[in-house]
Amino acid sequence: MNQIQVEGGRPLNGDLVVQGAKNSVLPILAATILSGGVCQIQHCPALRDVDSAIRILQYLGCRAHREGDELTVDTAGLSRCDIPEDMMREMRSSVIFLGAILARLGRAEMSYPGGCELGPRPIDFHLAALRTLGTDIDESTGVLRCSAAELRGGEILLSLPSVGATENTMLAACGAEGTTVIHNAAREPEIVDLQNFLQKMGASVHGAGSSTVVIQGKRPLHGCCHRVIADRIAAATYLCAGAAAGGEICLRQVDYRHLSTVTTALSQAGCRVRSTSEEITLQSDGHLRGITPVRTSPYPGFPTDAQALLMAALLKSQGTTVFVENIFESRYRHVAELQRMGADIRIEGRVAVVCGVSSLHGAMVQASDLRGGAALVVAGLQTGGTTLVGHIQHIQRGYSDFVENLARLGAHITATNT
Ligand code: EPZ
Repeated sequence: MNQIQVEGGRPLNGDLVVQGAKNSVLPILAATILSGGVCQIQHCPALRDVDSAIRILQYLGCRAHREGDELTVDTAGLSRCDIPEDMMREMRSSVIFLGAILARLGRAEMSYPGGCELGPRPIDFHLAALRTLGTDIDESTGVLRCSAAELRGGEILLSLPSVGATENTMLAACGAEGTTVIHNAAREPEIVDLQNFLQKMGASVHGAGSSTVVIQGKRPLHGCCHRVIADRIAAATYLCAGAAAGGEICLRQVDYRHLSTVTTALSQAGCRVRSTSEEITLQSDGHLRGITPVRTSPYPGFPTDAQALLMAALLKSQGTTVFVENIFESRYRHVAELQRMGADIRIEGRVAVVCGVSSLHGAMVQASDLRGGAALVVAGLQTGGTTLVGHIQHIQRGYSDFVENLARLGAHITATNT
């Protein structure tokens, strides 16, 4: 299937169990390398990116077996320390294998990672942290050749609370002699989930969720069983779809605290949101209003990954909403496609001003990245016609059963082949 077809104008109603978190399971799959044993990953979403991570593990000599949403990974057979360029280019998270391989084998070789094109995405914080832990890194040939006779614990100060750099450092530090302290660490729920997984393997990692993470390295590690947290960005996507299309949806098995900035914004726009420990219910009449400026920032701020989704939900809102994208330089590639559907959005650098319009029309549009692609579908639910979304491989990287889930909620949506 390479295209999604959406007939707009139908409300969404019903319940949905939220998939496991992409941005949690990917660093966890890299972390399995540290165990040298068998790990069972439950609530593992069926995603293109997870398949890419499995291919990397198998290339490195590990074994992986999926049964439903449970993935069993055995890393006893790890025999290689290099990852081919094509596998590195498939996704940004491939670089998180660097810290794990270094901790396990003391050397690693790979090219720079790929992933969504959101503007420059350097890995200088990752490399600086690994160098502080005693890694020699030769970048002279455009390939990262890394070696560490012995990793040593150290003090790491991140100039930005980078999610990836925090994760890579946590993994490498598990193989380092002594204590590593990460200051200005990322505080995302996925970092906490990674810490919980590492602790189950026997690692001494503490402080995740705060700005300071402390790792005592060189603990004997072993296999374990872990259930991945729910995907807060997938949940945000369905909430924005329900808000825009109207109706009442209930998301199950999701931690409402991970979505507080998103549900606050949707409540301000006129939705009724009720949350319990494991559920979020949203009611909307589909007539939203503009809200106060939305500034993306590291967790617990408003997630950059939900920017395009909320923007799509507010295209027909009463009034104006200003978005400020503070994390990535060019994360408005979905705007030109939304304008094809009749949206009124003006961009000035990192600022986008959404002026609500009375109607949107169907169009042929192209996904250019994961969240931008999902936003086009959210917009398509609000038109009076048919929207055809192409390049859906971007969407399949991060959403499992996206079309089926929306259809189950009552959307008139199908995946087709052109
Ligand atoms: C993670 O990417 C997520 N990906 C992204 O989600 C998310 O947008 C991002 O965090 C921010 O929340 C995964 O977890 C797999 P960063 P990551 O390092 O780790 C700059 C999605 O849609 N930076 O926190 O790559 C960087 O350029 C994806 O699911 C450096 O300058 O993000 C960016 O401006 C898209 N040097 C900022 O920091 C570095 O060495 C935050 O990046 C590292 C980062």
